[in-house]
Amino acid sequence: MSILAKLRLVLSLGQGIKSLTHGLIEKEAGLDPFRLFSEWFQHAKTSGVALPEAMTLATASKDGAPSARIVLLKSFDPHGFIFYTNYDSRKCRDLEENPCAALICHWTVLQRQVRIEGSVERTGREESTEYFRTRARGSQIGAWASTQSASLESYDQLVRRTTEFDQKFKGQDVPLPPFWGGYIVRPTRIEFWQGRANRLHDRLLYEREGSGWKVTRLNP
Ligand SMILES: Cc1cc2nc3c(=O)[nH]c(=O)nc-3n(C[C@H](O)[C@H](O)[C@H](O)COP(=O)(O)O)c2cc1C
Repeated sequence: MSILAKLRLVLSLGQGIKSLTHGLIEKEAGLDPFRLFSEWFQHAKTSGVALPEAMTLATASKDGAPSARIVLLKSFDPHGFIFYTNYDSRKCRDLEENPCAALICHWTVLQRQVRIEGSVERTGREESTEYFRTRARGSQIGAWASTQSASLESYDQLVRRTTEFDQKFKGQDVPLPPFWGGYIVRPTRIEFWQGRANRLHDRLLYEREGSGWKVTRLNP
């Protein structure tokens, strides 16, 4: 870690500690959870925490069996939060059977957690293509080569498949695989958690109400 990154982390820790006393106040949080999320995400990105865009994605099968894994938040706007993945993976089998998900962002040094819950839809092919084009060629080839979540004979088999696709697309742009793309989580609940002294943490819950949001303070 560079000296600069370390300095940023120390500064963020200071801000995290300041939040322990100042906290998350309704008047400052406002009525728009996306504005608040944007502010917190920006703060996380400049805080020096590793992978501020990493979030836990929880899904459940049609029988209600839960599973969770980390994915990367690639974009968000007032419609929802977008991540990209392999549509044949275990998470997507769940999402096709039961199109609901929960996301968690946790920014340790800032002592902050955001919990997002809502319905899920695939993003359009155009949007997925646009994002896929921004990925490094190696990651694009990797997306073709990996049958995500399926069993694999050996690591060598994966390397062989990677080489095959590298050859197949030699001298051309790598197209978006038909089995790969984004999901948008359209939230109905977003909860902001700010750590405070003596475990008397702040929890502000935003719940969709018509075209706006209802804000409720929860016990920690
Ligand atoms: C830091 C980090 C970031 C990750 N980002 C993604 C991602 O954006 N999309 C994805 O499909 N998997 C991502 N993964 C891998 C997933 O956690 C998981 O292993 C994979 O998606 C298969 O999950 P599934 O079998 O439950 O579908 C990431 C893992 C880590 C540790």
